[in-house]
Amino acid sequence: MNNLLDGIEEVLLMGPGPSSVPPQVYEAIGKKTLGHLDPYFLKIMDELKERLRTLLNTKNNLTVPISGTGSAGMEACFVNLVEPGDRALILVNGVFGVRMREVASRLGANVDALEFTWGAPVAVADVAKKLGETPYRIVAVVHAETSTGVRNPVDEIGALLRGSDTIYLVDTVTSLGGIEVRMDDWGIDALYSGTQKCLSCPPGLAPLSFSEKAMAKLGARKSKVPNWYLDISLIANYWGQNRVYHHTAPVNMTYALYQALLLILEEGTQKVFKRHLDNHLLLVKGLEEMGLKMVVEEPWRLPMLNTVWCPEGIDELAVRRRLRSEFKIEIGGGLGPLAGKIWRIGLMGHTARKENVERFLDALRKSIS
Ligand SMILES: Cc1ncc(COP(=O)(O)O)c(C=O)c1O
Repeated sequence: MNNLLDGIEEVLLMGPGPSSVPPQVYEAIGKKTLGHLDPYFLKIMDELKERLRTLLNTKNNLTVPISGTGSAGMEACFVNLVEPGDRALILVNGVFGVRMREVASRLGANVDALEFTWGAPVAVADVAKKLGETPYRIVAVVHAETSTGVRNPVDEIGALLRGSDTIYLVDTVTSLGGIEVRMDDWGIDALYSGTQKCLSCPPGLAPLSFSEKAMAKLGARKSKVPNWYLDISLIANYWGQNRVYHHTAPVNMTYALYQALLLILEEGTQKVFKRHLDNHLLLVKGLEEMGLKMVVEEPWRLPMLNTVWCPEGIDELAVRRRLRSEFKIEIGGGLGPLAGKIWRIGLMGHTARKENVERFLDALRKSIS
């Protein structure tokens, strides 16, 4: 019988995710599947939680990977921390802020969205003004807006909420593993991420962490969490000391995340962040030498997700197709109002290497000439 899997080629993943997966992580996935309550697997789970805490700079007990992609992490945060009628403030400057607004609205929250220009960061003064006018149960923002390449000032927004009753929720899907995330220092109460960006795993798990304050809010809910699968109090019973079966954990993906975290911590987080930054600077230099213009102002650029304007007269999609077919490189196009206008070039995790930047610049030069 025909097997399409035999035809899968090696593609250099330089889009907005997934990123390239290192061989050690593929090896980890291929290890023998253990039972999800096997004592050896439980040890792996415990060490994984500890390593996640290290990368997140948190002491939060509830720090676990949710079964599902980044969007499952987003849903898990909102569905546990929001009840119908709760006031939620979503800071929106790209596709994933828009998605947060949609998720919160579907849960019956009373949602206000503070909108900012796509390609520019969230303006902290505007957030401060809004918070002065209305008390919110939850404020949510995306750290690294993958749709635009902007880093939002998550630490400064956290400072505005310090000491308040408000839950501070941050999306770190694209940032985690590529730039610093300091959950406790920045006053973040709930956070989720995804495995397929700077953690260099295939897609499939969503690291999530809740502070004591978030856990207290969850415990004080008037209504049951409406989603059984993502109910954190049930999931905590499996990942905690009770080990109560909730759903069958994706065992081999858990190995992958365990290995990926090990690689990051063994390389050293500061070295990993510097590798992302150095390669980003090399990429920007090469793009600017070709006469291309970056979308985002320098202080707010993400090292792991670079957005560049497609020059006048060049067919944005045709260039991406040529990169993929002739050079075996994947990059991303724009989303929403930026569709057809920009390219999104990922330097995430294992992909963030000099040889990849050089290979890409050479291929792009040939593709636009
Ligand atoms: C910032 C951000 N949040 C959330 C998501 C959703 O993650 P997933 O596609 O893994 O569900 C993405 C995916 O690209 C993202 O970049």
